[in-house]
Amino acid sequence: MTGPGWAELTLPAALDELPTPALVVDVNRMQPNIDTMAQRYADAGIALRPHVKTSKCWSVAERQLAADAVGFTCSTPAEVAWLQGHGVDDLLWAHEPIGPRKVEFAVAAAARGGLTLALDSPEAAAPLAVAAEQAGVVVPFVLEINTGQGRTGVEPELALDRAAAMSSHHSLRLRGVLTHEGQLAGYTGDRDGLESAGRAVGALLVEVAGELREAGHAIDLVSVGSTPGAPSAPFAVGVTEARPGTYVYFDANQMRLGSCGLDECALTVVARVVSTQRPERVIIDAGIKAMSSDALGAVGSLGLVCDIDGVPLPDVTFFDGNEEHGFVSGAGAAALRVGDLVRIIPNHACGTTNMWSAVYAATGALVTERWAIAARY
Ligand SMILES: Cc1ncc(COP(=O)(O)O)c(C=O)c1O
Repeated sequence: MTGPGWAELTLPAALDELPTPALVVDVNRMQPNIDTMAQRYADAGIALRPHVKTSKCWSVAERQLAADAVGFTCSTPAEVAWLQGHGVDDLLWAHEPIGPRKVEFAVAAAARGGLTLALDSPEAAAPLAVAAEQAGVVVPFVLEINTGQGRTGVEPELALDRAAAMSSHHSLRLRGVLTHEGQLAGYTGDRDGLESAGRAVGALLVEVAGELREAGHAIDLVSVGSTPGAPSAPFAVGVTEARPGTYVYFDANQMRLGSCGLDECALTVVARVVSTQRPERVIIDAGIKAMSSDALGAVGSLGLVCDIDGVPLPDVTFFDGNEEHGFVSGAGAAALRVGDLVRIIPNHACGTTNMWSAVYAATGALVTERWAIAARY
């Protein structure tokens, strides 16, 4: 027996008819984000391989492919499996495949063709090489290089030694280098400084690629990737592809970094004021299960609170959350009444997406479709 329907709203519907909280993408904002980034790289002869983690949504991915994305970047095996299921045949899995189950999956997925893995150590390479050899598969991989983020990735000066050790396995084929210039997301200087830091990342990766070529490796992929670095890192001569992800929706963090303007932020959480019992805090029905808690630069805020038309509310801060309750304060919050709708631009779009099983697609104030979000944990 099923209970009364909840999220199955008859569409099209007006934005203010949505069950709250609701994740909404404004297609009129998203499509220009897709087209602008695609054009930027097409003009420069740089391949665009968006990171799919931002949307995890086939309706979005399809639009990126239609705008000439060469394929996608993935973080998780679930993303790889999902996109292979949709027939996408050019994927870069930019996360080390460690552990028996991931190794087994990596080899099986690589055997289907069109998958490149990312590795940064002989320890990561060895079990993969054994499994690939047993399966009779040659697995293409990129060597991940640390260009400042300090997460995964070998230090540039160790790249030659690592490449030699890892490509000694006949079942692995080194085809390139990859970096994620994620440090730019925490950049605190001005935009010019950020751009020059991005260009330096690209130049460093190109230099490493050159050294590997001189040592005899056939390097055809020189891959950088991030949204803050999107206008800079890929433009170092010799970079072959860019992997921004967040750009498809942008978010409040990217706005603070100067990567986008307010009217390019396509993803919002629509919520309602549910209680105003205490004047100093207004309670909304979106808490930490609706928003990513990854504030990045926006410490003390779960997102940028706007009115239903997307105009930021002055002196209003979404300062804390319980699971399904959001705490909103500030002088501007005093005007909010029970039942009022607010629209929140998440600090981090990608983490917010992963909280939801579907996103409503809207054109302005009209909600037209409900799109599934796939490959979540
Ligand atoms: C390996 C890798 N490539 C590309 C990206 C995309 O970066 P952004 O989210 O800044 O667009 C990420 C983001 O986490 C990443 O980890």
